[in-house]
Amino acid sequence: MTDSLPEPAVRLRPEILATAPYRQGKPAPADAFKLSSNENPFDPLPAVVEAVAAAAVNRYPDAAATLLTERLAERFGVSRGEVHVGSGSVSILAQLIQAAAGPGDEVLYSWRSFEAYPGLVTVAGATSVMVPNLPDHRHDLTAMAEAVTDRTRVAIVCTPNNPTGTIVTGEEFAAFMAAVPKDVLVLLDEAYVEFVTDPAAVNGAELLGRYPNLVILRTFSKAFGLAGLRVGYAVGPERILDAARATAIPLSVIDAAQRAALAALDHESEIMDRVAIIVSRRDEIFERLQGQGWPVPRSESNFLWFPTGPDTAAANEIFLAHGVVARALAADGIRVSVGEAEAIERILAASEEIARALPSVLAPSA
Ligand SMILES: Cc1ncc(COP(=O)(O)O)c(C=O)c1O
Repeated sequence: MTDSLPEPAVRLRPEILATAPYRQGKPAPADAFKLSSNENPFDPLPAVVEAVAAAAVNRYPDAAATLLTERLAERFGVSRGEVHVGSGSVSILAQLIQAAAGPGDEVLYSWRSFEAYPGLVTVAGATSVMVPNLPDHRHDLTAMAEAVTDRTRVAIVCTPNNPTGTIVTGEEFAAFMAAVPKDVLVLLDEAYVEFVTDPAAVNGAELLGRYPNLVILRTFSKAFGLAGLRVGYAVGPERILDAARATAIPLSVIDAAQRAALAALDHESEIMDRVAIIVSRRDEIFERLQGQGWPVPRSESNFLWFPTGPDTAAANEIFLAHGVVARALAADGIRVSVGEAEAIERILAASEEIARALPSVLAPSA
């Protein structure tokens, strides 16, 4: 633990010293399901395995990820310069935050949202402004727009939101964009967009070219099942993405990742068949949770949010006892990914037991 170590001999930034290093959840025991990282439960497609096997190892990768960038540009109907590929969309988030915000600047986002946001803002030297979600766990975009100050450089909108699974509607987003000054960079984090079935949800792909301050962020980690290879991308105005490219660590998108992403795009219909299976498992779990009386928000992602509040630690122990390794987020709730079919009954047996043992989770006060 960092806290128990002696003070470093050198002068490090105090805000960095106060920040905990990223810690991954414990590995799942052999008989448990790892449902803590919103991963795709399916094995990679054979074409992806072949693409990875063909990747160069002794040579550096193509720094510009040319083929993948071209392919994505074609797909979104934009120029190559309006696409930027990174080693996971989290790395592009870091690049854009660093490019736009430094000491004295503010980065605005909802809370709870993606756990990485606070750390990325701290590393940039900027200040986080967190706007609480609404009681129904959705972003409060009106409050977010009101929280913009002349120091705001970046606003992040996460839809579907990690960890609550809720979406922002197209209408809400349009009103937000109209209210936010054009010199504030808006990042639409759509890591889970492929799982969305609600037609009212915003879809960044339909907004390209409409706003000079909007960048959308997507990933191959979730629906496309390439989390282990680290590849994501941004689409938006070229000059903004050039600034991200300027802050990027060169050559971090490896050849295997570039090739695998292209192979996955070549087999998109098979990928989307798998997404449909995950979506149907998600909806089944959601409906049965409603039947158990759980106030779980409707999820448009590949995970569900249990707002267990102060009972979070105790509820998480019950999930673990049922062989479900979930993501417990201190004093707020538990996020459970939709994974293998065999995990469904375990999740529902655990949720039933939690509701029996800790009945206040069914009627949270906040
Ligand atoms: C909301 C959100 N954005 C971005 C990411 C980053 O994904 P990756 O870096 O694997 O592309 C995640 C991953 O969990 C996420 O939940």
